[in-house]
Amino acid sequence: MRLRGAWGHEAQALAAVHGRAFAGGWSGAEIAGLLDGPGGFALLVEDGDAPFGFILCRAVADEAEILTLAVDPAARRRGLALALVQAAVGAARMAGAQSLFLEVAHDNAPALALYAKAGFAQVGLRRGYYDRGANPSADAVVMRLDLGPSV
Ligand SMILES: CC(C)(COP(=O)(O)OP(=O)(O)OC[C@H]1O[C@@H](n2cnc3c(N)ncnc32)[C@H](O)[C@@H]1OP(=O)(O)O)[C@@H](O)C(=O)NCCC(=O)NCCS
Repeated sequence: MRLRGAWGHEAQALAAVHGRAFAGGWSGAEIAGLLDGPGGFALLVEDGDAPFGFILCRAVADEAEILTLAVDPAARRRGLALALVQAAVGAARMAGAQSLFLEVAHDNAPALALYAKAGFAQVGLRRGYYDRGANPSADAVVMRLDLGPSV
């Protein structure tokens, strides 16, 4: 198992992981657009050539954001997401960010537990943020991790 930076040309492989983790996962083009956009960066975990988890972030000025995080269902509860979040924290610090933000659905218990374990705290709630089609929309919990002043 290896954790490393991911690049725009790998977006299609990341989209395959995203599609296995989320109903209505993001396309390769969407992921490439975010990864190659201002401040975009991603980290993946792989075994051989196949990624089975990744985190996609954006760092602009002194703030960074986790845009998405996905681990293949078959590879869960092995600490991979926590390792990806911790690596993203390091990368965001290196980019000069003092805060790392994210949004997560209020009913996503695994992710809420993961982010709490990583040290994030709730700083807000966006009502009806996630459109779920025929189902009621879901609130987004806004979480923040203080990265401290850049050195
Ligand atoms: C959320 C997700 C990324 C977690 O990935 P993972 O690799 O299984 O997580 P880890 O093994 O690193 O778990 C770290 C900690 O998070 C918490 N956690 C993770 N999954 C959990 C679950 N199903 N139930 C309760 N707590 C959970 C636990 O505290 C866990 O530590 P522990 O195993 O020592 O108890 C994964 O379930 C996933 O891809 N879900 C679908 C996509 C998603 O919701 N992404 C996040 C929102 S952007």
